[in-house]
Amino acid sequence: MKITPARRINGRAQLPGDKSISHRAAIFAALANGTSRITNYAPSEDCASTLSCLRKLGVSIQSEGSAVIVQGAGESGLRAPSDSLYCGNSGSTMRILAGVLAGQDFSSTLTGDDSLSSRPMQRIIEPLQMMGAVLESENGKPPLTIKGRKPLKPIRYEMPVASAQVKSCVLLAGLNAQGRTEVVERELTRDHTERMLKWFGVPMEKSDDGTLSIDGPVSFSARDASVPGDISSAAFLIAAAAMLPDSNLEVEGVGLNPTRTMFVTMLRSLGMEIEVSNEGEEGFEPIGRVRVKGSLSTEAPSPVDSTMVRGNLIAQLIDELPLLAVVGTQIAGGIEIRDASELRRKESDRISTTVKNLQAMGAEVEEFADGLRVQGRTQLRGAKLNSYGDHRIAMAFAVAALTASGDSEIAGAEAVAVSFPEFFTLLESLVEK
Ligand code: S3P
Repeated sequence: MKITPARRINGRAQLPGDKSISHRAAIFAALANGTSRITNYAPSEDCASTLSCLRKLGVSIQSEGSAVIVQGAGESGLRAPSDSLYCGNSGSTMRILAGVLAGQDFSSTLTGDDSLSSRPMQRIIEPLQMMGAVLESENGKPPLTIKGRKPLKPIRYEMPVASAQVKSCVLLAGLNAQGRTEVVERELTRDHTERMLKWFGVPMEKSDDGTLSIDGPVSFSARDASVPGDISSAAFLIAAAAMLPDSNLEVEGVGLNPTRTMFVTMLRSLGMEIEVSNEGEEGFEPIGRVRVKGSLSTEAPSPVDSTMVRGNLIAQLIDELPLLAVVGTQIAGGIEIRDASELRRKESDRISTTVKNLQAMGAEVEEFADGLRVQGRTQLRGAKLNSYGDHRIAMAFAVAALTASGDSEIAGAEAVAVSFPEFFTLLESLVEK
């Protein structure tokens, strides 16, 4: 993909459905009794992987435009698949579905593409084995074969990594356990599973110390769900508009779940002109609009030497960190990101792939085992960039390329389809040269 520099971003955008929420809505609807209609289901390849796995488990799913209609299989209606369950690039599909499969009375095998096949699964193997399922992997990596056990044994699980995927996996396994399953979360991660449990009427308690409990086994009824626009996809447009002076962008119908909006909060705290209007809860998730005016001034005096992003901020910014590093090249003082070694275990090693692309554009970057530091107020130059097969790296550097002097080329830009197939078309419609 060739990207020429832009003068500004101008216009309105409606984002496709949120990827994290779509996975969960489809899985919950598949386990419910009755028919659920999910509107604004994400058109991404990852969310198609979830639907394809559910179909192989005997769930009937029809598509109607951007809606999907799921005939729930109920608490014991999933069938043994005749083939392996291919999750493509999607870590959420594999890790969340594993929690469901652990509680079935059949065996199944989850596989993925090259990137997913090198991602760590020990984090879900451990709790699911404690619950009595038998899991086989290639040294903690996919393919993952799960011999389910029905019912599972309930456990109290203190999460060693801050991960919404692990939390969701154990909570979903808890639906098929005999007794109380508890998950202890020390660092806040996205809470879509908790909200979805509530929406489908499954009793769940949350204590002040962050312990989530479910009393299994649970059966629940179907319910329609509407998926808000994806704030993590919107983040790329928001960042582009914030970095290009005189921009004017309005994003409508976007999810504003507080566990997902830290990126916007962060840009505001860095002095960017962004207005967020919460328009209430649409069902189970807050939704609203975001208005951005390009106001970044590289001439403004630097209030701080460098902005430090670390600790419990990391889990709340996890998908936006490469983009934040790109923004860091433009703000006074630059940005340092630490405590973020989880980034090395995403669709690519996002510390390394971010550093390589930033260096290609002439940024001053230092790489650490757990993060990076980038110098601010840098005029990026057009360069040959690479997505390294990672959708968020492709989009973060498409945004960087808009602010550069000279043309850029991104190899492997088609990776955007994993979460945001319309990204380049939408961006093109908003860009003024
Ligand atoms: C996701 C959780 C995050 C995130 C991923 C989607 C989810 O992963 O990076 O894109 O839907 O639960 P971890 O919570 O495992 O870090």
